[in-house]
Amino acid sequence: MKPRPTLAVVGATGAVGQVMLQILSQHADIWGEIRLIASPRSAGRKLAVRGEEVEVLALTEDAFEGVDIAMFDVPDEVAADWAPVAAAKGAVVVDNSAAFRMDPDVPLVVPEVNPHAVRSRPKSIVASPNCTTLSMIVAVGALHAEFGLRELIVSSYQAASGAGRDGVDTLRRQLTAVTAPGPRPAVAEPGTGPGDVRRAVGDDLGPFPGPLALNVVPWVGELREDGWSSEEMKVRDESRKILGLPGLRVAVTCVRVPVITTHSLTVHARFEHEVTVERAREIIATAPGVVLFDDPAAGEFPTPADVVGTDPTWVGRVRRTLDDPAALELFVCGDNLRKGAALNTAQLAEMVASEGREEREGW
Ligand SMILES: NC(=O)c1ccc[n+]([C@@H]2O[C@H](COP(=O)([O-])OP(=O)(O)OC[C@H]3O[C@@H](n4cnc5c(N)ncnc54)[C@H](OP(=O)(O)O)[C@@H]3O)[C@@H](O)[C@H]2O)c1
Repeated sequence: MKPRPTLAVVGATGAVGQVMLQILSQHADIWGEIRLIASPRSAGRKLAVRGEEVEVLALTEDAFEGVDIAMFDVPDEVAADWAPVAAAKGAVVVDNSAAFRMDPDVPLVVPEVNPHAVRSRPKSIVASPNCTTLSMIVAVGALHAEFGLRELIVSSYQAASGAGRDGVDTLRRQLTAVTAPGPRPAVAEPGTGPGDVRRAVGDDLGPFPGPLALNVVPWVGELREDGWSSEEMKVRDESRKILGLPGLRVAVTCVRVPVITTHSLTVHARFEHEVTVERAREIIATAPGVVLFDDPAAGEFPTPADVVGTDPTWVGRVRRTLDDPAALELFVCGDNLRKGAALNTAQLAEMVASEGREEREGW
């Protein structure tokens, strides 16, 4: 690898890609060329990264010429087709999509939890987890390292941007429709009678299966067996793989809420032995990438409105389960576009780039 590796950002125009460009502009600049790639629709657009305007290239095999590391922030099917192409051209791929996460020959890595896994990548592909898994796993991983995790019961409160640009645009349009008199048939006070929010929003549901403005929707992803959603299965399967606990008991209910960005989760975590809140709080307060924000008497607990735009996982409402001294209850918030997506991918790319420096400098 070159002393200053060439980086490709595939999907640079998307919700995750845009945050990636901010992060690349904020982190230590270890890169040579940064090449921006998206669909042919975006080819020729100019986007700012590291204070410079860079032209977006269409996704082609040639676009990976000379690329050392390629981040993929594109839909699953695009990553499934094109990550192997980039790898065959000699790049290490860091993929944000779900295409390779459960492939046994692809490590699924969170630098604060299982950093060693990044080095074993027979397909030259490293996967970054789903945003919901990522929003809790750094805190859960720190507690697991000391207490030994046995079971997770999780409910999510997921932001619109988890569904990409389309999700954000849809929520903003719906909020306008339910708060401002618009061209639709007037609904006096949406949210006061059955179906009135649906009438105000009309058929503008975007990627969501029901109105999101003034509502919560207990569904994220596609239908899987026995009524589970794909998002719920991802949290279960990915948590097991990252923590190296293939038999971990995990039950998840994923819910979409009218928040632009930042996922929240309630977590019931059961451990091998009795736990104390004091020790749990110490672990959370000192774990890298985690902030303890937990003083309900002072009105202090994480909320998406306060956490959005920040890097760490924020943890509050830490309690020992009343009926189970081996279990803890937590409320966790994490920006789904930063640690939940772009930041974790950037950290992984930086780790891979540092391997090249280690080899050259004989660390
Ligand atoms: N949003 C999150 O919270 C989150 C978190 C973790 C992981 N992820 C994953 O990250 C990936 C990107 O998500 P996102 O939310 O950023 O989606 P998005 O806002 O819809 O952006 C999609 C990106 O993919 C590009 N793209 C789409 N089709 C393409 C094609 N055929 N060829 C080349 N580029 C193509 C788009 O380019 P154009 O602009 O040219 O269409 C755009 O840059 C997805 O796999 C998603 O599951 C998302």
